[in-house]
Amino acid sequence: MDLFEYQARDMFEKHGVPVLAGATATTPEQARAAAEEIGQRSGGVTVVKAQVKTGGRGKAGGVKVTKSPDEAQAAAEAILGMDIKGHTVGTVMVAQGARIAEEYYFSILLDRANRTYLAMCSKEGGMEIEQLAVERPDALARVAVDPNTGIDEAKAREIVDAAGFDAADKDQIAGVLQKLWTVYRDEDATLVEVNPLVKTEDGQIVALDGKVTLDGNADFRHADHEALEDKAAADPLEAAAKEKGLNYVKLDGSVGIIGNGAGLVMSTLDVVAYAGEEFGGQKPANFLDIGGGASAQVMADGLHIILGDEQVKSVFVNVFGGITSCDAVANGIVGALDTLGDAATKPLVVRLDGNNVEEGRRILAERDHPLVTIEATMDGAARKAAELAAAAN
Ligand SMILES: Nc1ncnc2c1ncn2[C@@H]1O[C@H](COP(=O)(O)OP(=O)(O)OP(=O)(O)O)[C@@H](O)[C@H]1O
Ligand SMILES: [Mg+2]
Repeated sequence: MDLFEYQARDMFEKHGVPVLAGATATTPEQARAAAEEIGQRSGGVTVVKAQVKTGGRGKAGGVKVTKSPDEAQAAAEAILGMDIKGHTVGTVMVAQGARIAEEYYFSILLDRANRTYLAMCSKEGGMEIEQLAVERPDALARVAVDPNTGIDEAKAREIVDAAGFDAADKDQIAGVLQKLWTVYRDEDATLVEVNPLVKTEDGQIVALDGKVTLDGNADFRHADHEALEDKAAADPLEAAAKEKGLNYVKLDGSVGIIGNGAGLVMSTLDVVAYAGEEFGGQKPANFLDIGGGASAQVMADGLHIILGDEQVKSVFVNVFGGITSCDAVANGIVGALDTLGDAATKPLVVRLDGNNVEEGRRILAERDHPLVTIEATMDGAARKAAELAAAAN
């Protein structure tokens, strides 16, 4: 999950990273009130910043320095509702204005290729870092960070040395980098980026912008992260699936997909997209992995979500029986159809294979549900599901 800048700012503050005062506003009047309050700390100067989860806000006109509450209100008026790379601005942050002497860049990220963490740091922040990395790679220091020791004092020193900071600034910057590491580690982030990290005219090092990505796999140990979710932006079906603990991603097609195991579901998406070409371009409507224990309840929950998608015209249930054998899955499907009753309205194509497949197929054949078609192969089932979806359109 990516955080908004204001959420990153609050998280930084919680971990002792120096930040400036900031408050969010969703109306120009609120922005004015925030500027009246916050501007007192900085001679009336505040910065009104679009809160969208994309980069390049400044260039798009989404960051405006203002000198009075009137100006802040006008800036908010202009920025709220603005479209930045497909993101509509619904919230601005009114931030205390900084008197910037220098702008730096710092980030910590997961370096998958090298199975470690990577710190990147430059004396030249502010501009687009991707451009700097390409044009003058020497200006961007890259230092591997061992997950076991993280950015301790010695590592922080190594980073500030590599970036070539002035001797007088090194201690203070190294201290801030260690704090940013605690954000990364303690919040289970996969990215912490500060661009710019600035030195103010009075010599303070402050994080003026923050991008944080949290690792969703660690949500179980961060009860407080749930509150950071942007519920308004979430797809309602995805939100409902999440509530049920289902691994569901909404896509744009007409063939609903349920499978067990992420790999099988991924290949099912491919097979359906391929088979669908013959039927006017039918495509998968979703990714849904119901995992190992395909119980009647999980199957019913999954079907319920998929049938709630108006775009879905047919459903392909593709299960490979392993630890959960095919007869258990078949009972799950039958149980789910009974649970759903009249709510089950779209044709279901079922392909079962693997452990105890004969018994699984027998159970489905015996129930003989009018909506269910049993197919022996994955290709055959994909074709059938695409054909049924096309026929329903
Ligand atoms: N609180 C502030 N006080 C003074 N100047 C600021 C402040 N916040 C930002 N700025 C100036 O505006 C520039 C752009 O701000 P910021 O980095 O937050 O947005 P951005 O880089 O355009 O957006 P993104 O990081 O999403 O690409 C900064 O480089 C800095 O010069
Ligand atoms: Mg920035």
